[in-house]
Amino acid sequence: MTRRLILLVCASFVMVACERPPIETSQNGYRGTAMVDVSNPRDPMVAMEYPAALPAAPSSGPKAGEVYENVQVLGDLSVAEFTRVMTAITAWVSPEQGCNYCHNGAEFASDDMYTKVVSRRMIEMTQHINSEYESHVGGAGVNCYTCHRGKNVPEYIWFEQGDSANGNKYFMGWRNGQNRPGADVALTSLPSDVFVQYLTANDNNSARVASDTAHSPSPKEPGITAAEHSFAIMANWSQSLGVNCTYCHNSASFQSWEQSTPARTKAHHGLNMVRSLNSDYLIPLESAYPANRLGPEIGDAPKAYCLTCHQGQKKPLGGADAITAYPSLAKN
Ligand code: HEC
Ligand code: HEC
Ligand code: HEC
Ligand code: HEC
Repeated sequence: MTRRLILLVCASFVMVACERPPIETSQNGYRGTAMVDVSNPRDPMVAMEYPAALPAAPSSGPKAGEVYENVQVLGDLSVAEFTRVMTAITAWVSPEQGCNYCHNGAEFASDDMYTKVVSRRMIEMTQHINSEYESHVGGAGVNCYTCHRGKNVPEYIWFEQGDSANGNKYFMGWRNGQNRPGADVALTSLPSDVFVQYLTANDNNSARVASDTAHSPSPKEPGITAAEHSFAIMANWSQSLGVNCTYCHNSASFQSWEQSTPARTKAHHGLNMVRSLNSDYLIPLESAYPANRLGPEIGDAPKAYCLTCHQGQKKPLGGADAITAYPSLAKN
């Protein structure tokens, strides 16, 4: 009896195991370089459903810009199309609170709620991503759900770290954000406060540190600190996409673009895009947010990185088309 029970339990385990999607591996690079790509659809971060698009609305009839008082970005849509976009936005960003997350229900035209002011800029940012960065998102495209996934605040955002993680930069004991496993740098002990440097527009944001000679000819070549910082951002990218370094690089030469995979070029465009999102859209929103949305250490605005969209997948949401059904979020 017990033996039969054990057998039954074992069998059901096997059945459950069989039903789970298989881990897939493929070779994506040069023979003998172990440029193998592993994808694991069982990872809970990866198993995400994309909500079905709402049925199209007629484009005829009066425009939202004519009928409503305070429509500054989506004014060219018909009232029916505008309402459809509002309904979709609600499902993507505030399914629990509904329209009132951004609207004072009595006065839809009012800009009193910061969430509405931020959202208007978010609409422009989404249009910017889809129209200016086809080199990166072309194909799937993005909408609010790509980052928000039904939540008011996207799950993966970053803030600057303050002195508590780093120590005082100008005094003894500066830790440079390292020597402790950083969740954002794949639990390595590399510096974990590297995002301002690489992911905002500034003069010091090149991750290119490899020298092409055995002995660096100039003391101006990047040193060990720069190398540590670049490896930290690289670990972050690998983690964000759920891939190895060899998804983008041939380990024979991390520097050589000729020997890198096409994904590295895509990543290069993604890097430029993220810098623009942070510097042109998200950082300037700082004054729009209430204090509880700002960074816990230095009060900076919440910012985006690769993980904000990718969430552990090579293509966010498994490459699901996020934009064809919402053309108003794609134009300039
Ligand atoms: C996540 C924020 C957000 C949610 C949720 C939201 N809206 Fe809006 N709504 C906006 C923004 C931003 C504008 C201004 C758009 C523009 O300037 O182009 C707007 C404008 C409007 C306007 C125009 C008001 C006027 O007179 O100027 C109406 C009507 C409207 N929304 C209805 C709705 C309805 C109905 C819902 C729920 C189904 C909803 N909204 C949910 C952000 C939101
Ligand atoms: C590239 C990723 C990304 C996309 C796409 C995106 N957002 Fe955001 N959104 C953010 C980030 C980052 C924040 C800042 C998080 C915070 O408020 O703490 C944010 C904040 C917000 C907030 C403020 C939430 C709060 O409670 O403070 C609203 C509302 C919002 N977004 C609406 C939208 C709408 C509407 C769209 C689509 C038109 C959209 N977002 C598209 C990344 C994104
Ligand atoms: C998603 C693609 C991608 C992944 C994954 C990735 N890299 Fe990179 N890597 C790049 C890009 C793009 C650059 C150039 C960055 C720049 O333009 O500043 C780069 C630059 C580098 C450089 C500097 C090369 C030079 O020119 O000096 C090194 C070293 C490097 N990566 C190592 C790694 C390591 C180690 C990993 C794994 C932990 C990794 N990379 C994962 C895309 C990637
Ligand atoms: C605004 C959202 C967003 C952000 C932020 C973002 N990506 Fe992407 N990325 C996408 C989308 C969408 C695709 C899929 C495009 C397509 O359909 O081919 C993609 C595709 C890619 C691909 C190609 C995948 C493949 O298998 O073809 C790479 C590599 C990549 N992203 C790297 C990055 C890196 C590195 C960063 C951060 C520097 C980044 N992405 C930031 C949205 C984003």
